[in-house]
Amino acid sequence: MKILLFGKAGQVGWELQRSLAPLGTLVALDARSPELCGDLTDLPGLARTVAQVAPDVIVNAAAHTAVDRAESEPDLARAVNALGPGALAEAAQRGGALMVHFSTDYVFDGSGDRPWTEDDAPAPLNVYGRTKLEGEQLVARNSPRHLIFRTSWVYSTRGANFPKTMLRLAREREQLDVIDDQVGAPTGADLVADVTAHAMRSVMGNPALAGLYHLVAAGETSWNGYARFVLRQAQQAAVALKAGPDAVRPVPSSAFPTAARRPHNSRLDASLLQRRFGLQLPHWQAGVARMLTEIL
Ligand SMILES: NC(=O)c1ccc[n+]([C@@H]2O[C@H](COP(=O)([O-])OP(=O)(O)OC[C@H]3O[C@@H](n4cnc5c(N)ncnc54)[C@H](OP(=O)(O)O)[C@@H]3O)[C@@H](O)[C@H]2O)c1
Repeated sequence: MKILLFGKAGQVGWELQRSLAPLGTLVALDARSPELCGDLTDLPGLARTVAQVAPDVIVNAAAHTAVDRAESEPDLARAVNALGPGALAEAAQRGGALMVHFSTDYVFDGSGDRPWTEDDAPAPLNVYGRTKLEGEQLVARNSPRHLIFRTSWVYSTRGANFPKTMLRLAREREQLDVIDDQVGAPTGADLVADVTAHAMRSVMGNPALAGLYHLVAAGETSWNGYARFVLRQAQQAAVALKAGPDAVRPVPSSAFPTAARRPHNSRLDASLLQRRFGLQLPHWQAGVARMLTEIL
């Protein structure tokens, strides 16, 4: 099996380089790749790359993920999140490849407190969400043989992440204010990548499994609960902090005005994925605790 991966240097892309490697020959690109074009804004370049590599599977982990910046650069966000993935899906269909793509809880408006299912109507609140929704729709329309995974609150050991920011702030300050009115499930890039590899193999053997799925760790928390968990783990690991978990004050989203509005309810129901692929998604705390043992 030949796999063509876009966005190899992102959180999920990096973990996909690991999880997809044993499945076959992996050609992994980013926007700066020298020989083959991996830039999602270069549509003719993408078509040339797919024709040249002739993959069995195209996996797109590239995205414009700067949610606030997307408000002031909507054309670039749309090019990367919608038009590029749409062109890749078209090329996948032309070449008979399976198309794998990632999307987000931000396609929903965040109302209510029930976990969103794949059948719920999307209604994005911001440019990032709107462009990601258009990307999903173009991928599904252009390549009927697809896997699209909506995930949420992605973290990885590599690069910046929310737990690292909380640990830094807790070393510097006596008290932290963290939002408690946005609820979701922190999900490891490693989990997303491992489930993707498993699902890809399953779809190659059973094409009826193709489709759109929610892929998040089990359980739920707010950013405030997430911060408290991180600081409790750090305390247990004897890390010196000025602010412990009890010094994390709950504040509403309005305490931190941002360019993009964010959904309050980011819960995603992943039962369809678990049922169809015979998987049991682990609790978010297990993945975060594991990541913390690596970075503390
Ligand atoms: N992060 C989250 O919390 C989250 C939540 C829900 C869903 N998702 C979705 O999950 C998927 C993976 O996200 P992630 O967390 O791994 O994001 P990420 O770490 O920001 O990685 C995205 C990658 O895409 C690259 N990229 C940007 N513009 C590009 C272009 N024109 N051509 C090629 N590559 C380009 C970025 O490169 P540069 O860094 O050089 O710009 C980056 O390496 C995305 O579809 C995202 O929408 C993420």
